[in-house]
Amino acid sequence: MNFNVAVIPGDGIGPEVTEQAVLVLEKIGELYNHSFNFTEVLAGGSAYDLKGTPLPQETIDICKNSDAVLLGAVGGPKWDNLPGNLRPEKGLLQIRKELGLYANIRPAVLFDPLKEACPLKPELIEGGFDICVVRELTGGMYFGEKGRKETDMGMAAYDTELYSEPEVDRIVRKAFEIARKRNNKVTNIDKMNVLESSRLWREVVNKTYEEYSDVTLNHLLVDNAAMQLIRDPKQFDVIVTTNMFGDILSDEASMLTGSIGMLPSASLGEGKFGLYEPIHGSAPDIAGQDKANPLATILSTAMMLRFSFDLEKEAKAIEDAVLKVLSEGYRTKDIYSKGTNLVGLKEMGRLVVSFC
Ligand code: NAI
Ligand code: MG
Repeated sequence: MNFNVAVIPGDGIGPEVTEQAVLVLEKIGELYNHSFNFTEVLAGGSAYDLKGTPLPQETIDICKNSDAVLLGAVGGPKWDNLPGNLRPEKGLLQIRKELGLYANIRPAVLFDPLKEACPLKPELIEGGFDICVVRELTGGMYFGEKGRKETDMGMAAYDTELYSEPEVDRIVRKAFEIARKRNNKVTNIDKMNVLESSRLWREVVNKTYEEYSDVTLNHLLVDNAAMQLIRDPKQFDVIVTTNMFGDILSDEASMLTGSIGMLPSASLGEGKFGLYEPIHGSAPDIAGQDKANPLATILSTAMMLRFSFDLEKEAKAIEDAVLKVLSEGYRTKDIYSKGTNLVGLKEMGRLVVSFC
């Protein structure tokens, strides 16, 4: 089959990790007789440098005409002094919104060979864990009204957490649907004891739940959830939460899997189209040094094959190859520990390709 994939390499380690992911997809194409047509487009800081905007119209158009988008990461200190609307991250927020991708699926799975890289005590992770964070992606604080104003106490700034009932309903539905394909268990995370937006959020969760009563639902306040993730990660299966809480909790969950360099994500809306990216940022501290872990991006392509292209066998082949590489002891620096083989980004990519 033929698939059109828009690739946004972005900034920092973005171009390095997407390059490896594309090589893996090309190998899968050869092995299983698919043709992936890649079109590289600009977004983020590099787009600002070349086009004066972090999200050129051409990028939006090409993404909209593709079957899926693969993204590296955007941003870096070079662009830190730009005003908010020109910052690289704005390009990323905007493209998710433009494409209607309101559900960010972030699986945090502990690969058996990486148990020693998990900072928790062995007895807490006995048997591993498999958490699926479903994060709302196009609403909440990151999109609400923001600004600065003079007050009696001097300059002040504000951001607004705003959620509408339909926005909550559609993300919660996604979480329940995903739970039905897994273990029928959802934990909703909010801050309803303090935030009005969370009180509405929880009301909608409970209302929508009436249609999914076959699923087990429980609620946690976000501060408790942050603690529970470390105390007993195995209690979680599907987590549904707001944009900001999901951003923070999934970084926390990533460390339990060994490294932020391991976690893929899928951003979905209605239909099959999706944007796939690692959850990490552009890691300017290690960019251009062949040190970054490409596995999060490579695993993101497995999610692309599964969710957007219905290629389960091919997705599994990538995940199995990653598991094999790890089982044979190969590690990039972020997951390296004594007794394992330290490899660079390119070598890690090459190994995955060879094990596919
Ligand atoms: P970051 O995720 O880029 O890096 C945090 C730490 O993790 C760094 O020490 C980095 O070296 C390490 N790290 C991240 N990915 C890694 C990988 N694949 N392999 C090995 N080590 C890895 O977050 P940070 O430093 O807060 O942000 C850097 C820039 O990235 C900022 O401009 C930020 O706005 C942007 N950013 C972009 C995101 C995106 O494009 N989706 C998401 C998060 C941050
Ligand atoms: Mg983040």
